[in-house]
Amino acid sequence: MSIVSRLNPLNPRRAAASLDRLSGQVVLVTGAGRGIGAETAKALARLGAEVVLTDVDEPALRETVAAIGEASALGVVADVCDLSSMEDAVAQGVARFGGIDVAVANAGIASYGSVLAVDPATFRRVMDVNVNGVFHTVRAALPSIIERKGYVLVVSSLAAFAAAPGMSPYNASKAGVEHFANCLRLEVAHHGVAVGSAHMSWIDTPLVQDAKKDLSAFADMIATLPPPLNRTTDVQTCVDAFVAGIAQRSRHVYVPGWVGAIAKSRTLLNSAFGDRPTLQQAATSVKRMDEEVRHLGRSTSERNLDSLHEAEQAGRV
Ligand SMILES: NC(=O)c1ccc[n+]([C@@H]2O[C@H](COP(=O)([O-])OP(=O)(O)OC[C@H]3O[C@@H](n4cnc5c(N)ncnc54)[C@H](O)[C@@H]3O)[C@@H](O)[C@H]2O)c1
Repeated sequence: MSIVSRLNPLNPRRAAASLDRLSGQVVLVTGAGRGIGAETAKALARLGAEVVLTDVDEPALRETVAAIGEASALGVVADVCDLSSMEDAVAQGVARFGGIDVAVANAGIASYGSVLAVDPATFRRVMDVNVNGVFHTVRAALPSIIERKGYVLVVSSLAAFAAAPGMSPYNASKAGVEHFANCLRLEVAHHGVAVGSAHMSWIDTPLVQDAKKDLSAFADMIATLPPPLNRTTDVQTCVDAFVAGIAQRSRHVYVPGWVGAIAKSRTLLNSAFGDRPTLQQAATSVKRMDEEVRHLGRSTSERNLDSLHEAEQAGRV
């Protein structure tokens, strides 16, 4: 499904007009070095937006900025866990482009291992990046977004309402930021600011690719989920949905669309009945995942280790 057909399948001209509104908008995207953040930033820039991009991974961030071109992209190396770095990134964005219309609080990481096996510092780092990072992003950008009656898109996940054993910090963080978005929406509606949360199933990005490579138990867990939960969606489909959501200032962005139906049936999903399919495998799959995590000697992608160790040394996790 293209962006236009997502926006308005019956009226492509109207859909195109709402995409036109993105031209000249200034969009802050965190975690824009790779994956969904990088590709969303490129798509927004192709539609005429100016983008302020942050990441902890400087070479990756530089690549995204180079792909877009420095005339419409500003890259700032900033860890979302650090409020003053995010305030500095926003200040640089405002100085360069005049303000911020939209913030996409996208940076996020995942951990590996059950509650008994996950490295405690990694657990805390996931919560720090995925929850505090969203708060810092919004806190820093909100004054400008209010001035411009803009939009905030908080990147949550299907994980906010579908629990997976071995992913407790990730699941908790994504449920947390979904409700953060619900609170924020109520706080800022009277300023003319809209707030959405994005909920995606598996998207084929480095985050999911790394986890599949690191842990065969994780790859098998995905493969044995009941359909459609076992499917991995391409990044472009996710980007189209994000762009359509930003253009329409949507309350929710679901990728693929069926995630919206799961969101509506979350009470059933989290009931004893809903637990049944997962419980049939959990005892063996968790044991296997934990053994693999022990063998791996880390509870997250290798890419996250530098910033994790920095946070440990600074006593932040
Ligand atoms: N890929 C999926 O299946 C999926 C599904 C649902 C939700 N999500 C969420 O979508 C968002 C993007 O995920 P992705 O799959 O593109 O991941 P990714 O790992 O491919 O890219 C994430 C980017 O965030 C950056 N980042 C990590 N920690 C950071 C920090 N502290 N400060 C700033 N930048 C940081 C990374 O360097 C990387 O460039 C995340 O919030 C993720 O949880 C992903």
